[in-house]
Amino acid sequence: MIRIIVHGGAGRITDQEGHRTGVRRAVRVGHAILQDGDSALDAVVKAVVTMEDDPTFNCGTGSALSLDGRAEMDAAVMLDDRSCGAVAAIERVKNPVLVARQVMEQTDHVLLVGPEAVKFARWMGFESYDPITEHRKKQRAELIQRLKSGHKLRYFDKLASFIDKDNGDTVGAIAMDRRGRIAVAASTGGILLHLPGRVGDTPVFGTGTYADERGGVLATGHGEEIIKLMWAFRTADFMEKLPAQMAVDRAIQQASQYGCTGGLIAMDRKGNVAYGFNSQSMSYAYVVNEQLVVF
Ligand code: GLY
Repeated sequence: MIRIIVHGGAGRITDQEGHRTGVRRAVRVGHAILQDGDSALDAVVKAVVTMEDDPTFNCGTGSALSLDGRAEMDAAVMLDDRSCGAVAAIERVKNPVLVARQVMEQTDHVLLVGPEAVKFARWMGFESYDPITEHRKKQRAELIQRLKSGHKLRYFDKLASFIDKDNGDTVGAIAMDRRGRIAVAASTGGILLHLPGRVGDTPVFGTGTYADERGGVLATGHGEEIIKLMWAFRTADFMEKLPAQMAVDRAIQQASQYGCTGGLIAMDRKGNVAYGFNSQSMSYAYVVNEQLVVF
């Protein structure tokens, strides 16, 4: 039984068609890998690479820019045996998720950050690459202009009002391969205009990204709120007794009570896929029993 679900972020998605095309392409790429008998890890990484290379999404090429105009990206991979690897605030690489995989497979660590993560990427043979797009430069300049004409920027929570104006905030994929192994992978440019050095939920295992014997979970939304909730681990806990969709529904309900908005995708041990969100929208696609569903 092979299964895959991907998401392209939660929030106010202005480019619905771009998201539809992008998540459809990503889920097909991942599904083809599973059909060939390759691993769930290969499938989720390739699905996420596909979205990192698509400027529609806030990750890889087209990542949201920090306050000082840099693309500081986070990415993570995790397997259901708890093997994991991540990078945070990494710059000038094309596919952060591939570097995260190398952290898992080639090091004794689970997370490398900032310039040292870049150095590690170069050791691993990843070439220098500029993921900053003209669209993101323009978007940043416009927001800074608005801030100058009245909006305050002193505290981070003041930035929250801008988050929903972004086109989704993270991408991710969860797959089960023919051997029944579950893997998750995620990648993000973080929150538009974030302070330099800020790290979101994606590479902080248990918060935005998690997998264990109960299944896999990925969150998307405002990283700071997701971290405080330990949202992915909380959802996995629910999956101990509940099927994926009921676990996700309960986790979304709890998040609403805490004022956290965003979305979740999940897959339980039986291969049930689930999604849910309490934000304005979320883009997603999945293939179950050879049936493709796009949001
Ligand atoms: N959820 C992505 C981030 O806040 O960085």
